[in-house]
Amino acid sequence: MKIAIAGKGGVGKTLVASGIAWTLARAGRMTIAIDADPSPNLALALGILQQESDAIVPVSEQDEWIKKKTGTAFPGVYNLNFSVADLVREFAVPTPAGAHLLVMGTVRSMGAGCTCPANSLIRNLLRHLIVDRSEAVVLDMEAGIEHLGRGTAECVEMMIVVSDANRQSLAVAGTIARMAQGAGIPRVMLLGNRIRNEQEYGMISAFAEKNSIPMLGVIPYDPAVSGAGLSGEPVLSLDGTPAFLAIEEITWTVAQVVSGNTCSRGGMT
Ligand SMILES: Nc1ncnc2c1ncn2[C@@H]1O[C@H](COP(=O)(O)OP(=O)(O)O)[C@@H](O)[C@H]1O
Ligand SMILES: [Mg+2]
Repeated sequence: MKIAIAGKGGVGKTLVASGIAWTLARAGRMTIAIDADPSPNLALALGILQQESDAIVPVSEQDEWIKKKTGTAFPGVYNLNFSVADLVREFAVPTPAGAHLLVMGTVRSMGAGCTCPANSLIRNLLRHLIVDRSEAVVLDMEAGIEHLGRGTAECVEMMIVVSDANRQSLAVAGTIARMAQGAGIPRVMLLGNRIRNEQEYGMISAFAEKNSIPMLGVIPYDPAVSGAGLSGEPVLSLDGTPAFLAIEEITWTVAQVVSGNTCSRGGMT
């Protein structure tokens, strides 16, 4: 399965991405968690220490590899085919949570007229990543909506749009959901997070219904999560907490809904 987690900054994308990735890895699935946020922090959530996290070279800075993979004779033509095993072998960093981590890095703007290989690489890497049924790719996306224009989320089987009951978070969630649906992502679902009471639950579900976005579920507000967030503790420290139990349940719902790879296999872009 290939799923993406999107939403406004601070709504809980990294919590959800790391929680799903850990749950899948713990169940024995080969799992890659991809940090596509320009200020990456998925590493810490998956239990990597700050010092090791700082040493990770993002894919966007793997110049040699980019050259190799984009080195066709035609500008703008990239011959890319990856398997999960390729990525794990070439780049992905093992994490204490069991999932392998891939940090995409910042896409540098290289001025007019360039073919921007790093940008294309990231997009194509996702598009051409062939994922077996037993494997999982979980993409922690950057906040906001700009990335959707770059096509980063193309070919994902499901987009989980995370939102708390805050009006602004919901407005961003609505925009993201519409863009994702417009981009042809087959399943776009809303996930409520940090829900404190019936009223907040009611706000999220009313929003989902009004905007025709199916609800995936809700994660309660959990002081253990905010405490872990403040001290930078990984998702592993949250095992058994109400928030984490909700994430586990959501993971299995997702696994049932998403059956396999919907992307066309191989080819040139
Ligand atoms: N269910 C929750 N209960 C309490 N705090 C939460 C919950 N979900 C997220 N948080 C806190 O909110 C902050 C933002 O979460 P994070 O996953 O980093 O969001 P994002 O990746 O969308 O920016 C973190 O400090 C996190 O600990
Ligand atoms: Mg984040």
